[in-house]
Amino acid sequence: MQRKVTVIGAGNVGATVAQRLAEKQLADVVMIDIVEGLPQGKALDLQEAAPIEKHDARLTGTNDYKASEGSDVIIVTAGIPRKPGMGRGDLLTTNAKIVKGIMEQTAPLSPDAVLILVTNPLDAMCHVALQTSKFPRNRVVGMAGILDAARFRSFIATELNVSVENTHAFVLGGHGRTMVPLPRYSTVAGIPITELMPQDRIEALVERTRWGGVEIVDLLKNNSAYYAPASAAVEMADSILKDRKKILPCTAYLQGEYNIHDLFIGVPVKLGKDGVEEIIEVTLTEEERTALKKSADAVRSLVESLD
Ligand code: NAI
Ligand code: 2OP
Repeated sequence: MQRKVTVIGAGNVGATVAQRLAEKQLADVVMIDIVEGLPQGKALDLQEAAPIEKHDARLTGTNDYKASEGSDVIIVTAGIPRKPGMGRGDLLTTNAKIVKGIMEQTAPLSPDAVLILVTNPLDAMCHVALQTSKFPRNRVVGMAGILDAARFRSFIATELNVSVENTHAFVLGGHGRTMVPLPRYSTVAGIPITELMPQDRIEALVERTRWGGVEIVDLLKNNSAYYAPASAAVEMADSILKDRKKILPCTAYLQGEYNIHDLFIGVPVKLGKDGVEEIIEVTLTEEERTALKKSADAVRSLVESLD
């Protein structure tokens, strides 16, 4: 395989990302973790599944960043996940140090890579990655909106008893309680859900989406979600590696778009070989604009507390 993706952090999200990348034959995969034996063992296990899964991706597990050299895409999933009672913000200081250290080691080895951040608190970790890597803003992008939208889509499909493939959902803002799901732009077979469901049901699904991460943490107890997060990160990698130019909700660095300055936040973007190739601006109602501003203020205060 000619493309190379490095996945940093071989835990729940990282290993599932590696598995999906390989099984979709998107790239050879290098898995890196600080725990000795963990990335090696998981990469070998996944490699041994290849004859059955019928893919030719090569998987390498290592603790040495040298193996990541020349990556096309680097997906950062290293860090501590949430436990019950913890907010994403509780992870801030620990994960900021981890992401900074990773960027210092990996960015110089793959100066042309697109960085996909997954580690929480996501929006703040994108800032750390941008500052440390010194990559241009289009090549630093965070995964959150696809996951939040997928949760919303799965709830819509269940509610209306329709195929998930018919659903589209639109979520703006930071990855957290202040996220802004937009029912007006969320559709089933092109029909806005505002025409298909009563307002109280829409509000219930929006609220469940906002708390989607917590719902999983409360069930798993010692981990946060990883199957859907991994799918979301791989959809981004797919669009970048194949230059598909999909419009996807991702965390991008805004410099005036949506009247937000110098901040990472979730917006629809066009993802292609150069990373974020365009930030799509949609018209918002007064209420939606206020909700997005509130979300941006929450992200900004988290980022400022890092400084
Ligand atoms: P996990 O605990 O299963 O895996 C994390 C891995 O990172 C561990 O294997 C650990 O050894 C490794 N690690 C820690 N420090 C490292 C370092 N300095 N260098 C390399 N590896 C290091 O956690 P999980 O469930 O995979 O979650 C990972 C992160 O992703 C968490 O911060 C979590 O909150 C976040 N997350 C974000 C989502 C999003 O929507 N953006 C969704 C799901 C998880
Ligand atoms: C989630 O939304 C933990 O941020 C992660 O599941």
